[in-house]
Amino acid sequence: MEIKTKLESLQNEVLNKVKSSADLKSLDQVRVAYLGKKGPITEVLRGMKDLDPSERPVVGSLANVVRDAIQEAIEERKMILETEAIHQALLEETIDVTLPGKQIAKGQSHVLTQIMEEIEDLFISMGYQVIEGPEVEEDNYNFERMNLPKNHPARDMQDTFYITDEVLLRTHTSPVQARTMDKHDFSKGPLKMVSPGKVYRRDSDDATHSHQFHQIEGLVVAEQVSMADLKGTLDLFAKKLFGKDREIRLRPSYFPFTEPSVEVDVSCFKCGGDGCNVCKHTGWIEILGGGMVHPNVLEMSGIDSSVYSGFAFGLGPERVAMLKYGIDDIRHFYQNDLRFLNQFKVKE
Ligand code: DAH
Repeated sequence: MEIKTKLESLQNEVLNKVKSSADLKSLDQVRVAYLGKKGPITEVLRGMKDLDPSERPVVGSLANVVRDAIQEAIEERKMILETEAIHQALLEETIDVTLPGKQIAKGQSHVLTQIMEEIEDLFISMGYQVIEGPEVEEDNYNFERMNLPKNHPARDMQDTFYITDEVLLRTHTSPVQARTMDKHDFSKGPLKMVSPGKVYRRDSDDATHSHQFHQIEGLVVAEQVSMADLKGTLDLFAKKLFGKDREIRLRPSYFPFTEPSVEVDVSCFKCGGDGCNVCKHTGWIEILGGGMVHPNVLEMSGIDSSVYSGFAFGLGPERVAMLKYGIDDIRHFYQNDLRFLNQFKVKE
């Protein structure tokens, strides 16, 4: 029977094409071509009406068997191709989770903040409080309470920005001394504080001067505080910051708010005291000013200077950092240049 052979060879032909379909798209093309409305199977089924009625059931069921076989083969092939496609995608999109990730750039504290925190930590370890004061300050606290009455010649060195005649940008952190002494209750123990912060002066900016810079003030007031306490404290400070072999020396000086006043040098950390370019061949480097708190300053805070005495000091973290790291220009601190700042990464 011609139509039967035709169906069988059609089945073989389609099964071969299904097997050789390399991807889902060509498989679908085979499906549409053979099982679709215009395909040969539909055509056979349509031609049934022209057949002898006795042949119809045989041809009809054969056509169904062939169609089912083709459908099944297509389904099977489809599953295989789909699995292959997934495997291929997995291979192509593989991520090596063991590769190191991209490092996120971490920032760090500014070198001045690092220095100031290091100094604060040292004093905290010796029982000092850290106290901050206002940058916009009264003339009264900035000068008068520091024993610099109006028209005192030493005011000239600390000209500043005035908000009004009586309000200015503070020229030093010393006014925090008066503010703290005003409030201190000596029945609770001695006063020991450091006060870090920004200060302002009418200075033209150059390699060693800036109209805005930082200071750390130190103040201790108690009964029987002596110059030996000041010297011992600053000796510890110098060794902690510049190395354990450092020594300090005190030179007489003048500040209106201390009596006697001293300037404090540290033995040169570069040459050890022999003389070099850092210490300008003297073996010593000036690091801060200090002295015994002037009785007038104590009395203005209502503290009895016949019972209490104190020492004070003021230092510049910029200067400390410049010395410690060999920084040649104070302006580097304020320019936010990462090439400079990144040299002072905090060790993790
Ligand atoms: N206030 C001074 C200045 O800015 C620094 C200073 C010197 C502070 C001696 C002190 C001190 O407390 O005792 O130049």
